[in-house]
Formats: sequence, structure tokens, C-alpha cells
Amino acid sequence: MNIDERLENTNFPLPAIREINLSKHPSSISLGLGELKNFTVDPQIFEALSSNWNNGISYTQNAGLPALRQAIANHQKQQDGFDYNENHVVVTIGVQNAMYTSIRTLQKLGAQRVLIPSIHFGIYKKIPAEFGMEVICYPLNSDFSINLQALEEILLPDDIIIINSPSNPTGKVFSTDELSNLGELLSKKLTKGYAIADEIYSALVYEGQTAESFSKFFKRTIIANGISKSGAAAGLRVGWLITRHEKLAKAFTSNNATIISTPPTANQYAAIPIIDGQTTNTINQYNQFLKANRDKVMTMLDSLDIEYNMPRGSFYIFPKVGNKITCNIKDFCITTASKPNGVVVIPGVAFGAEEYIRISLATAEMDEALTRLKKAIEHSL
Ligand SMILES: Cc1ncc(COP(=O)(O)O)c(C=O)c1O
Repeated sequence: MNIDERLENTNFPLPAIREINLSKHPSSISLGLGELKNFTVDPQIFEALSSNWNNGISYTQNAGLPALRQAIANHQKQQDGFDYNENHVVVTIGVQNAMYTSIRTLQKLGAQRVLIPSIHFGIYKKIPAEFGMEVICYPLNSDFSINLQALEEILLPDDIIIINSPSNPTGKVFSTDELSNLGELLSKKLTKGYAIADEIYSALVYEGQTAESFSKFFKRTIIANGISKSGAAAGLRVGWLITRHEKLAKAFTSNNATIISTPPTANQYAAIPIIDGQTTNTINQYNQFLKANRDKVMTMLDSLDIEYNMPRGSFYIFPKVGNKITCNIKDFCITTASKPNGVVVIPGVAFGAEEYIRISLATAEMDEALTRLKKAIEHSL
């Protein structure tokens, strides 16, 4: 087959989440969003953008703006005590690009297997699969914690393991004990590989302690983080990687320079106030709002006797609806999204868990959305 024939015969699917969102009727309410859309953006972010507009028009270094990298290094030092500097940091175009370039670079350095949680954000599987790497799901317990015993049985010394806390889609935030036990296991067994900790939701914790960085518990951790969620600024596309190993950061920079050249300069200025903690009040408001929405969803789920784990962070809840929605859950989601006055929720199959749906807490229309969702679930019986 030549290029034209392949193009004709291949169906290039969009991610399942996009597919559902595209089927949305204009009058439907979205509980499918992976961003804090229409949330108030902290004025300091706009101020940093506009006051640096002139500086932001040229290229930055391939690794990103030195001032931003230093701010990230300072922030990470507060998390785990290691003496980071700007050479440990690589700015990327969002965490998506950070995951892509870190996995690709590690593959070039010889990594062959990537371990991902059995319930996962879709790109964890897609990216390594695209590079022809072996992707292995490690099991989670029913409370969405990692089944350490099962993990120990499959882990090889030079594996790459992806962890995600606070989690999309489960809302699980690992406790200090859970992080410490995982760190102990990896320190013992993962002696030549790396953990990639996707901590993009680390600022969005609304119940219990704040999220701790996994690098505190395991030295061979590469942290991926960004401002898409904490800044309600997904469209600015700023993320980063940080590692204790300078040469590894250099390898990421070299590889990513081939893909993106440099991250967008002006947008990098906008990230600095978020990382420096100047937008904390705004983030606290997001967390209060998300918590109130979470409580409303839990009340609705309780009224239908649907099983769920209470989320403590990110902005999702991931109930197990398999015994309530007896038809195919993806079909249920498409139908519910596409009818007038419907509601968008994402089928769990998009995250490797067929019996679940993901409900986003990031909406100002939660009351009406839940009335619609409850009715849809009741009618599916
Ligand atoms: C767990 C997780 N990682 C990464 C991303 C991608 O983030 P970014 O917008 O920074 O590329 C998302 C976005 O939804 C996410 O939920």
C-alpha cells in the first residue's frame, strides 16, 4: 500500500474523550471537561503575560526561560530537599509534551517497558505504544491505591513506571504512607529505571493533606507538572520536567528541541507567579468550589446507591456504574451527551475501566447537570 491508499484506508481516531465531547448537543451540560474552563484566572497570570509581551516575542533557550526554570527548581527543592537548579529543569509544551519527550528519551537510552496504572489517563498507554515499547498495566486496589504486592511481582530493575497522584480519572491522592511504601519498593527493585510522576493536579487537593511530590520518596523520579490545571490555563500550554540528574535533563532538552524547538516564550512568563505561590488564594477558591461540587455528586450517587471512592484531589469522581447502567456504558454516554438537555460524562473505557464513568467537577451548572444525569441513569435501567 502507498501513502494515499493507507490514508484512505486508515481511520485516525480522536481520543475517546474528544469523541464524546464532540457528540455533545448544544443544550447539554458538560461534566466531561478536563480543564477549569471559565474559572476565574488569577490576574497575576495576565499581568505576567502582558508585562512581558515584548520579551516574549523571541525564542527562549531550548530548555525554556531561565527565570521560570529557576522558579521551578526552587519550588521542587521545597518539596524534597534536593538542591535543584535550572539545569535540572526542562520546560515543555504542557505535560503531554513532557510525557512524550521523557518516554521517548528513556527509550533511546534503552528502556523497553513502561508500567502504567490499570486505570489511567489515556496517553500513558498511547505514547509508549507509539514508540513500540511494551506497556504493562499494574493493578490497583478497589480504593485506587497501588497493589504493591502485584507490582513487585512484575517490576524489573530497568523499567519505567508512571504514577499519577492526584489522579485523573479517579481523584485519588496518595497518602504519605502510600507514597513512602511505594518509594521503598522502587528503591529496592527499580535500581536502573525511572519513575515518571505526573503531578499536574498537585495544587488541586481539597480534602486532607496537600499532595506530596513523589521525588521525596524515590530519588530516581522524573516529575512532570504544569500550569494547565493549577492556573486554569490549559491553553497556554506550559509544562515541565524536573529530575535530579542534570545529564538526563540535558537529554530531554536535546530530544525535545527536535520536536518543539522551544516552548512559547510569553506563556512561560505567565507560569512564574503560579509557581512562586502568588496565585494561592485563587487556587484555594478553586479547591473550595470543587469540593462543594464533589459533595453534590456524592449525594446524588448515594441516592442511587452507586459505588464510588471519595476523591480528595484533581477534579474528577469515578463511580462504578456497571450494575446500574446495564446497556453499554460508552453508548449510554454518547446518547446522554447527544440528546437535547443532556449531560456529558466520559465512559470509563477511555481510562481502561469499562464499568465506570468519569464525572468532572469543573462546572458552574452542577445542580442541573446532576438532575439530568440522575434521570438518565434511572432511565437506563
Ligand atoms: C493526568 C494528566 N496528565 C497530563 C495532562 C495533559 O496536560 P497538559 O495540558 O499540560 O498537556 C492531563 C490533561 O488532562 C492530565 O489529566
